[in-house]
Amino acid sequence: MHIVHIAVEMAPIAKVGGLGDVVTSLSRAVQDLGHTVDVVLPKYDCMNLSNVKDLHHRNSFAWGETEISVWFGKVEGLPVYFLEPKNGMFSVGCIYGRSDDGHRFGFFCHAALEFLLQSGFRPDILHCHDWSSAPVAWLFKEHYIYYGLSNARVIFTIHNLEFGVHNIGRAMTYADKATTVSQTYSREVAGNPAISPHLHKFHGIVNGIDPDIWDPYNDQFIPVPYTPENVVEGKKAAKEALQQRLGLKTSDHPLVGIITRLTVQKGIHLIKHAVWRTLEHNGQVVLLGSAPDSRIQNDFANMASELHSSHGDQVRFCLTYNEPLSHLIYAGADFILVPSLFEPCGLTQLIAMRYGSIPVVRRTGGLYDTVFDVDNDRERAQAQGLEPNGFSFDGADSAGVDDVLNRHSNICLVRQTGMVLLAVQARDGARLVLESTGFGLYGTLPFGTEQ
Ligand code: ADP
Ligand code: GLC
Repeated sequence: MHIVHIAVEMAPIAKVGGLGDVVTSLSRAVQDLGHTVDVVLPKYDCMNLSNVKDLHHRNSFAWGETEISVWFGKVEGLPVYFLEPKNGMFSVGCIYGRSDDGHRFGFFCHAALEFLLQSGFRPDILHCHDWSSAPVAWLFKEHYIYYGLSNARVIFTIHNLEFGVHNIGRAMTYADKATTVSQTYSREVAGNPAISPHLHKFHGIVNGIDPDIWDPYNDQFIPVPYTPENVVEGKKAAKEALQQRLGLKTSDHPLVGIITRLTVQKGIHLIKHAVWRTLEHNGQVVLLGSAPDSRIQNDFANMASELHSSHGDQVRFCLTYNEPLSHLIYAGADFILVPSLFEPCGLTQLIAMRYGSIPVVRRTGGLYDTVFDVDNDRERAQAQGLEPNGFSFDGADSAGVDDVLNRHSNICLVRQTGMVLLAVQARDGARLVLESTGFGLYGTLPFGTEQ
């Protein structure tokens, strides 16, 4: 089959969050299955083009009162077509965050379909993602299917219902299949008026991570590559490198890592509480986060200056986006904390497991589906043929965080039961964890059964 993804993020060249990771990892997983996969992206001026192989200008076409240059290159082995309108729409220094985002991405979706039509593409599947490429679904079904683009089926994936629900409602109507990124989230949003009329074609399929992109055995950003054979040595070296790089005391005390967009979704008050509690327990905290909202950014900057002076050798807030540092934190941390108020899937807990760090999560959405608490979820895990693999808590107040951080003895339990080793048990460790915890890289849709 020929599958074309039309998306506005793609790791590592244009990534804001998990959407970017999944566009790349899902495309690679499907390509590995023997299908032909192409990705169409805007050509942003803020893109990291050093990660694009053989980038070259392919052609230009006139559309939407401008000229659109089409560039082609390979990203992580995937063919990618970049659309660059001469009107400068994507030369604005950012991916999102402007009042004309809706207009810009609507233009991009239209241009992408026009490009496919004019270039003679005949895809079997068009896959669009979130509000930003949702317009592809209705533009295709209302127009481009009649222009002869192809008789493609449209898949629409909701990564986060929080944004652009109006666009999402239209795509839900037109898509042949709609998915979201975990089963629990699919149930959590089933009553939303944009979703509820379409439950017959709506599936929750949990995300996977790409085991080659997130691979502690082959990671240029960590000091010692590790597999199960040397996981202790590898993680120790990473922890020391992290402590040294950030000016923290070299110590064996538990180190809690937090890698996140700092938004209300991510449980900001729980993050703050966990920071204080960890410091009280003599643990260390490294937070890597950036806030699109300047008030939240300032709030964390103030907290950072307070903490860096009172607990300077124990805590570091890096209030920025930094991919290389994120790798070192995943490897160097003992725990990765994800206390989200809601989380459609969440990738950081999966990456944590891949690097042998223990996820500590709030029970919601995909966090609930992928993390099984050592004390409370043994039966739920075993019912799926799995073993517990982390810590989780309920509630949205500090009591849950306190409980989970106080359960010290179980840390040893997790280590003794080999869960950490399991996380990196093979060169192909992530696949192993994904399978052993029941969320195989990607489930398959029963395509063609319900048309
Ligand atoms: P979301 O998409 O809601 O932000 P996910 O957990 O699905 O959450 O994905 C987040 C992705 O973004 C992960 O790959 C994570 O490592 C990365 N990430 C988040 N914040 C940062 C940051 N400040 N610096 C580097 N990477 C980050
Ligand atoms: C969204 C969600 C996150 C999910 C990611 C990739 O950004 O917030 O939970 O993991 O998309 O699907």
